[in-house]
Amino acid sequence: MASISDRMRDALNGQIGAEIHSSHLYLAMSAYFQSLDLAGSAHWMRVQAAEENVHVQKLFDFVVERGGRVILDAIARPPAEWESPQACFEAALEHERMISGRINNLINLARQDGDHASESFLRWFVDEQVEEEASVDRIIKMFRIGGGQPVALLMLDRELAARVLSPAAVAAVTASAAPQQGA
Ligand SMILES: [Fe+2]
Ligand SMILES: [Fe+2]
Repeated sequence: MASISDRMRDALNGQIGAEIHSSHLYLAMSAYFQSLDLAGSAHWMRVQAAEENVHVQKLFDFVVERGGRVILDAIARPPAEWESPQACFEAALEHERMISGRINNLINLARQDGDHASESFLRWFVDEQVEEEASVDRIIKMFRIGGGQPVALLMLDRELAARVLSPAAVAAVTASAAPQQGA
């Protein structure tokens, strides 16, 4: 199979940067929730950051597998404060919608290049984005139902504490922790 085109390689490198920035942003959100003593929300954001690192690794491996060179860029500084816990999750949703738009653009590029391998690979991200947007949207709805009441906020925070890493994230963490055979 032919290597990826230069423009697809550059676009995927751009997406690696966007996913690293996503992880950075969610870690900043986690720190924000820690500062409010909302440990469950902080945990949820930390898991989210770990999931974004899995996206980074998937893209990284794909670029290498297709004969491309990974080039990393600087990471933009994320905000440190948000208006409220709800506003923070709303910012997360807005961010995920932006990422979904980027994935759509990547698929359009793959189609223009007749690059079926990249299109097939990127399909996983399409499904992942649907899931991520839906889960953040659900949380925002719960905030709305809670109407800013402290009791509702504490109950929601307790629920968010239960989030676990996806099997893919667990596998990625385990794989990177395993010693390399024969290396
Ligand atoms: Fe992502
Ligand atoms: Fe995401």
